[in-house]
Amino acid sequence: MERIVEIERFDNEVNYEVSLRPSTWDEYIGQEKIKKNLKVFIEASRRRQEALDHILFFGPPGLGKTTLANIIASQMGANIKTTAAPMIEKAGDLAALLTNIEEGDILFIDEIHRMSPAIEEILYPAMEDFRLDIIIGSGPAAQTVKIDLPRFTLIGATTRAGMLSSPLRERFGMHFRMQFYSPEELATIIQQASHKLEKQADTSAAKEISGRSRGTPRIALRLLKRVRDFAEVMDEERISLQRAKFGLDELGVNDIGFDEQDILLLELLISARGKPMGLSTIGAALSEDEGTIEDVLEPYLIANGYIERTARGRIATAKTYELFRLTPLDKENQGGLFE
Ligand SMILES: Nc1ncnc2c1ncn2[C@@H]1O[C@H](COP(=O)(O)OP(=O)(O)O)[C@@H](O)[C@H]1O
Ligand SMILES: [Mg+2]
Repeated sequence: MERIVEIERFDNEVNYEVSLRPSTWDEYIGQEKIKKNLKVFIEASRRRQEALDHILFFGPPGLGKTTLANIIASQMGANIKTTAAPMIEKAGDLAALLTNIEEGDILFIDEIHRMSPAIEEILYPAMEDFRLDIIIGSGPAAQTVKIDLPRFTLIGATTRAGMLSSPLRERFGMHFRMQFYSPEELATIIQQASHKLEKQADTSAAKEISGRSRGTPRIALRLLKRVRDFAEVMDEERISLQRAKFGLDELGVNDIGFDEQDILLLELLISARGKPMGLSTIGAALSEDEGTIEDVLEPYLIANGYIERTARGRIATAKTYELFRLTPLDKENQGGLFE
């Protein structure tokens, strides 16, 4: 079954009939601290007429990293070239990218934790000294050719800060950790998007959708579009609370926004009865890859206090037991959950 709140790794927004991606600070809702800092740094570098320092964004998918990179570019009046680390396979791929940029341009590298060590080595002098060291030939005849690069800004995005090598991390002048969005912020994003889609969502409907979106704009927008489809075929001009509820129920999104995988994970941890469970065990039980559990599934559950990460593994919190109407020590009831 398709996972409704699933988050794809790469954006397929080109398929959207209307772009819902904000292009200005005003449209970019929330992440106030990041916005405030970025505005200052952008203004300062514009005054000095210098390229912006390299920027690293990290946080779960769908929280607005790519969008921010694009807003920064437009605020700097700079061109942006976008790629993802797995697409840079050979030194030549990176060299081609870097020799094609102009002074002040932005190079956006998504999934930067997946960069190969050999490519990283080439990136270091490029980031630090705006210089490309290319080795031509091999064996004793090999020569290093140094090419000067224009001053550019590298923006990196990653879902796994922990997987980034520290030399790479240190070469970014600014680090920003993305936060999950509050229901109020998501409701604003939904109303703004529904306006663009020309099917206005009522305030109550926007709230309903936002509460089920796992704190994530990408999920909120996806749910909005599906609900809009329901309103569309019912010939309704607006998106009402009733239609939103109906649509979301049809889609199988429960009222805290958990999907099946979330529920399975929580049930699994409850079944361990307080014993920490390792990532590999969880992965095997859910038939899910460990990276996806760490990047996509866990962060929201941890941020909202449903699970805890300990040195020995993951455990369900009292909040989770309560959610399933169980008490942590009530073994009898716990058994009942799996009948
Ligand atoms: N702060 C925000 N305000 C409004 N819309 C947002 C915001 N952040 C993200 N979005 C929307 O959510 C979607 C996912 O954002 P994106 O930047 O692609 O996330 P990421 O790169 O972190 O995976 C985009 O369609 C974007 O329009
Ligand atoms: Mg992205």
